[in-house]
Amino acid sequence: MCGIVAYIGKEQAFPIILKGLKRLEYRGYDSAGIALINQDQLNVFKKAGKVSNLEEFMLHQDHNGTSGIGHTRWATHGAPTDTNAHPHVSMDGSIALIHNGIIENYNALKQELIRQGYLFKSETDTEVLVHLVDFISKKENVWFGEALRLALLNVVGAYAIVAISKNFPGQMVAARKSSPLVVGIGENGDFYLASDATPIVEYTKRVVYLEDEEIAVIKLGEELKIYNISDQEKTPYIQQLELELEALEKGGYDHFMLKEIHEQPRSIHDCFRGRLNSSEGWVSLGGLKEYEQKMIQAKRLVIVACGTSWHAGLVGEYLIEELARINVEVEYASEFRYRNPIISEEDVVIAISQSGETADTLAALELAKSKGATILGICNVVGSSISRITDAGSYTHAGPEIGVASTKAFTAQVTILSLLALSLAHKKGTISESEFRILIAELEAIPEKVQRVLENNADIEKIALEFKDVTNALYLGRGSLFPVALEGALKLKEISYIHAEGYPAAEMKHGPIALIDENMPIFVIATQGNSYEKVVSNIQEVKARKGKIIAIVTEGDEHLKEIADYHIEIPKSHEFFVPILATIPFQLISYHIAVMRGCNVDQPRNLAKSVTVE
Ligand code: G6P
Repeated sequence: MCGIVAYIGKEQAFPIILKGLKRLEYRGYDSAGIALINQDQLNVFKKAGKVSNLEEFMLHQDHNGTSGIGHTRWATHGAPTDTNAHPHVSMDGSIALIHNGIIENYNALKQELIRQGYLFKSETDTEVLVHLVDFISKKENVWFGEALRLALLNVVGAYAIVAISKNFPGQMVAARKSSPLVVGIGENGDFYLASDATPIVEYTKRVVYLEDEEIAVIKLGEELKIYNISDQEKTPYIQQLELELEALEKGGYDHFMLKEIHEQPRSIHDCFRGRLNSSEGWVSLGGLKEYEQKMIQAKRLVIVACGTSWHAGLVGEYLIEELARINVEVEYASEFRYRNPIISEEDVVIAISQSGETADTLAALELAKSKGATILGICNVVGSSISRITDAGSYTHAGPEIGVASTKAFTAQVTILSLLALSLAHKKGTISESEFRILIAELEAIPEKVQRVLENNADIEKIALEFKDVTNALYLGRGSLFPVALEGALKLKEISYIHAEGYPAAEMKHGPIALIDENMPIFVIATQGNSYEKVVSNIQEVKARKGKIIAIVTEGDEHLKEIADYHIEIPKSHEFFVPILATIPFQLISYHIAVMRGCNVDQPRNLAKSVTVE
C-alpha cells in the first residue's frame, strides 16, 4: 500500500514521477504528492484524491527540477486530505520525505519531538520521520542521509522511504524494511526509485531490489552505494528486469480488469510453459522440485494467504488432498501469525501471494521459519519480498496485474496448485500413470476452454444487466467449487459494492435460506460431477422460495437450463479443473455490474492491491 517513486538525473523529474505515480496508483489512491528540487528551492505539491487531481493542479504550477520524489497514498494514520498527503517536509523547509509502511512507535517519537519544539502539521506517522531526520542532522551535525540512518535506528515498524534535501540537490537517500523498494540504474548516470519496477522499466532494465534495513545512497556522478543500517557498505546486486512495457498498458480495453480477464487463456498457458508436457507425460515445477520429497513426507502442508490468494489456497487444499493424499490446512495469514500456531520442522508452509508483499503473509512466513518449518512461495511478482525470503517457490507468470480486484493471478495460482498436486501425486504414487496422463491432458486443454467461456461475454453481460441493481447476492458451490463461490462473492463486493456471500451449497439451509425471496439472485456452480445431484436439490430449494437462480452449468446440460432462471455454460472438463473455468463467468458478471453501476472498476474505493500494512 502506498506507492513511492523518485528520480534524480539530467531529465525533468516531474513527467517521470507523474507517470510513475499513475503506474503505482493501484497501491493506493487516497492522495498524491510530489516534491521537486529546482536549483536551491524545494517545491512541494499535494492533493487529496487520485493522481489525476494532482496532475490537474500541476498544470498551473512551476514543476521544473531534475530531482524529485512522488507518493500515492493509501491512508493509514490520518484522513485522506491535502495536508496528510506525502511528501512531508521539515520545519525549515529543507528536507522532504515519502514513506510507505507504518511507524509503530510514532507516538512516542512525536511526543519527544514536540518537547524539542517541533510543530506537526499532519496526523500521519510519516511526519515524525522527517522531523526526526532534521533533528538528528542538526544535533549530530551530519548530512541528511546519515541522519536518516541514525533516525531509523530509533524506528519500530515497516518502511520504504525516499528523502531529498535542497541543501544537497544532487543527492537522494532511500531505505527499506518490510516494504518494497527498487532502484533503477539509468544509462546516463540517472537513478529511478519505486515501490515496484513498473515505473522504471520504461527507462532502464538494470535494477537493484533493496533488502531489509538497507540504505541506498545516490550521488549524481557516482555509482550507487548500498549500506546496511550499521553503516557497513554492501555490494549492490544488479538484476536485469524481464518486465515488458506493453504488459503495463490497457491494450485497447476499457479497464485493466477486463484486459486481465481476457488475458487468462494466455496467462494460464504461460503458467505451465516448460512445466507440463502431455505427450511425454510429465509435470515439473522446477522451483519446487527439490522440496517435493519434503512435501510428501511433511506432517502437513500449511497454506497461508490473504484475500483472493486465500481462496486459491482453498482450491489447492482440495486438489492436493484428493490427488496426493497429503494433509493440507489453509489459514488466513493474519490469523495464523497471531495465534501461536503449532509448527515444527516437519511442516511445510506455503505462502500464496500475487504481490509477494502482503504484510500478514510475509509475517506468517517469518514466524513459520523461526519455528523451523520449510517455507515455500507461490508469487506473481518476480523479485518480491516473499519470493526472496522463501526457501524455494514457483512463479505464476501471469504478468503484471494492475486491476485491484485479482483475476488472472487467481487462475494462475490455481493452475500452479493443480500442477503441484499432480506432480506430488505422481511422485507419491497416489494416482495411476494412466490417470496422471489423462489429468495432464485435461489441464493442458484448459486455456482453450477458458477462451470459449470468454466468448460468452455478451450473454453474461445481459445477465449482469438483470441484476445490476440488487443489494445482496448469494454464491453457492460444493467441494473445490465452494472457494470459487467465495471468490465470486468477493469479486462482486470489491468492485460493485453489492453485499455478497459465498457458501457451501449445503450450508444454505443453515441460515442464508432465510434471506431468499424473489429479489435475491443466487449464483450456483452446478456443473456435472460428484455433487451434481445434490446441487440440483439445493437449486430446487431456492426455487421453492422464489429466489432467482443463475447457474453455471456444463455445456449441453438441458435439464438445468430448464430449471435455472439464467444459465451460463462452461465446457466439459475434469472436475479438478472446473474451478478455473467456473471462475471466469463470475469475474465477468462482477465486471459488467460494476461498470453498469458506474463504479471505478480498476480502483475500487478503500482498497489497495498490495497490502503492505497489517
Ligand atoms: C488485497 C487485494 C486482493 C488480494 C489480497 C492479497 O486485498 O486487493 O486482490 O487478493 O490483497 O494479496 P496478495 O498480493 O498477497 O495476493
